[in-house]
Amino acid sequence: MTFSFKSNRPANRTTAIASGSHPVIHRRDVSGITAQAERDLLAAHHLNSADLIATGTEAKVYLLDSEQVLKVYADPDGTQAARLQTLRTFYDRLDRGRVPYALPVIHSVEQHGPLLATREALLPGRPMGEVCDLTIPEAEALYLDAVTALGALPPPSGAGPRMLLAGPGTPGAEPGLGWHPFLRRLLDTRLEAVHDILSADVPRIDTIVKDLHTLLDSPYTGPEAVVHGDLYPDNLLFAGGSVSAVVDFGTFTMTGDPLYDVSGACVYYRQYEADRLTVWRRLLDQAADRTPSSRRHLLRAYAEIIAILTCDLYPENHKPLQATGHYQWAVTVLRDLDWGS
Ligand SMILES: Nc1ncnc2c1ncn2[C@@H]1O[C@H](COP(=O)(O)OP(=O)(O)O)[C@@H](O)[C@H]1O
Ligand SMILES: [Mg+2]
Repeated sequence: MTFSFKSNRPANRTTAIASGSHPVIHRRDVSGITAQAERDLLAAHHLNSADLIATGTEAKVYLLDSEQVLKVYADPDGTQAARLQTLRTFYDRLDRGRVPYALPVIHSVEQHGPLLATREALLPGRPMGEVCDLTIPEAEALYLDAVTALGALPPPSGAGPRMLLAGPGTPGAEPGLGWHPFLRRLLDTRLEAVHDILSADVPRIDTIVKDLHTLLDSPYTGPEAVVHGDLYPDNLLFAGGSVSAVVDFGTFTMTGDPLYDVSGACVYYRQYEADRLTVWRRLLDQAADRTPSSRRHLLRAYAEIIAILTCDLYPENHKPLQATGHYQWAVTVLRDLDWGS
């Protein structure tokens, strides 16, 4: 496959989505990595700027040697090391044999003043969004296969919190909370912040929320798996004609219905492109074909939940929220996607 375009999430300021004083979803940002601190860190590891292999939305990734990368995060308050240790333990406990591609391994977490660095196994491949022509049917099929395959990854044993990196007192922090009550709490917390904004652009928002409440107030009886929470083409690495790794678990990672990832991945594909509605419809129809008829309605519900949860998570400097690409993406999901009903 050939390089066609690079799909980029806007990389911006750190965004903390708060419930009271507690962050619910906390996204760090590469723009917080200060130049001097980065130079010092690179010098300590005998690296230079030519060793940079990727800049993500949260981290910069350097090639350390033939087997390892160094992932660098901003951590101005020195508060994030525990989260990365939690992620390291999570990766250690994954039943990797269940999926047909590599998953991350964190060897160490190091604090370097205002930066955090993890030493991780070098994974094979380059981001799908970078090296694949995402417009061809083969790419869509490989993407959907890989996303669906993640549903076979069981949650690491032990009654951990539903949301891997939830802070104390936030939805998803308490062990034993069911999938539906957890999603309902998360949704309601986020709606406090975004309902009034969304209602101006999505006239049906109250009907959508009412239907979501009806669903989430019913018992959940489906499967439980690791939910990555942010599957889009740059978090799938591609090599030798197939998906070689899935990276970037963390910020949105949960335990719950694997269909949540499938739905999110469909609407995150070519998410800022002009043909997106046609592409999403095609992917969602294929996903529905792979899903028992009793569960197909969940594809819609999860896409709507993901749009509401993330609509204000990717601010762009000096722009009102309504003018940002990700907010407009969320509105398109909530308002313009034809579900045939
Ligand atoms: N272990 C790894 N081996 C090889 N490449 C990696 C590895 N981890 C990350 N990358 C590359 O760095 C990019 C950004 O990393 P990612 O984990 O997605 O962080 P971010 O949260 O910043 O998006 C990925 O898209 C991938 O290209
Ligand atoms: Mg990423």
